[in-house]
Amino acid sequence: MKALRWLSCSTAVLLLLVHIVPAETQNCNRGLNGIPGIPGTHGPNGRDGAKGEKGDPGEAGQPIRGQKGAPGPFGPPGRSGMKGEPGLPGPDGFSGQPGEKGRPFNPSSQQKSFFSYKRLISTPPEMDTPIIFNGAILPDLDKQLQGELLTNETTYVCSVKGVYFFSYHISARSKVCLKLEKNGETHSETCDQADGFLVTSGSAVLELEVGDTVALKVTRHNYIVEPRSTSHTFTGFLIFPTA
Ligand SMILES: *[C@@H]1O[C@H](CO)[C@@H](O)[C@H](O)[C@H]1NC(C)=O
Repeated sequence: MKALRWLSCSTAVLLLLVHIVPAETQNCNRGLNGIPGIPGTHGPNGRDGAKGEKGDPGEAGQPIRGQKGAPGPFGPPGRSGMKGEPGLPGPDGFSGQPGEKGRPFNPSSQQKSFFSYKRLISTPPEMDTPIIFNGAILPDLDKQLQGELLTNETTYVCSVKGVYFFSYHISARSKVCLKLEKNGETHSETCDQADGFLVTSGSAVLELEVGDTVALKVTRHNYIVEPRSTSHTFTGFLIFPTA
């Protein structure tokens, strides 16, 4: 500040001197020069300058990437999804081992059922009552080989489930009507008529369950003859058993 003020003073003196010198030379006869005046005070600050040009773009900054954080804890299990569609059928399995060899089929070895009887009663049978057959057809055979006994000497009671064949013949005079019954119900009913004597016969194939019954009855014209030899017979046997 002091130096600035000195500079300002000396400039003023110099300017004064420059101005004064020619005047001195022209007016040598004028009075003495006066003492230089006191320097003036500083003027006010100048106004702002014009706006400068836009600066160059700065260098591209490098984004700084932080280090990868530690994995978070496992969340709770989610809800079950919807049921999927059924899958395709799998491939065929391996074939199994061959089974055991079967036993030979021999129906006569195990299951047997047969009977054959004749009537040896001289009095005529009662109507609508099972006819009695009380004599063995083959009386000389062992009892075991003579087949099943008829219950009440009248009725075959099935002991082996299966298909059976039944046959009968009855001798009569002029007329007779017979009925073959299964479980008390009519399976077949026939009548026969002739001048003099006649022999009427019938047969049937029946499927029987264990406990089923088969019997023969006279239903009309009860003219059955007094038996001689095999005038009246009733026979039945198992054709084949059923499972
Ligand atoms: C055998 O006779 C009795 C007495 O009459 C009778 O109750 C029974 O049902 C008869 N049995 C058969 C299988 O017909």
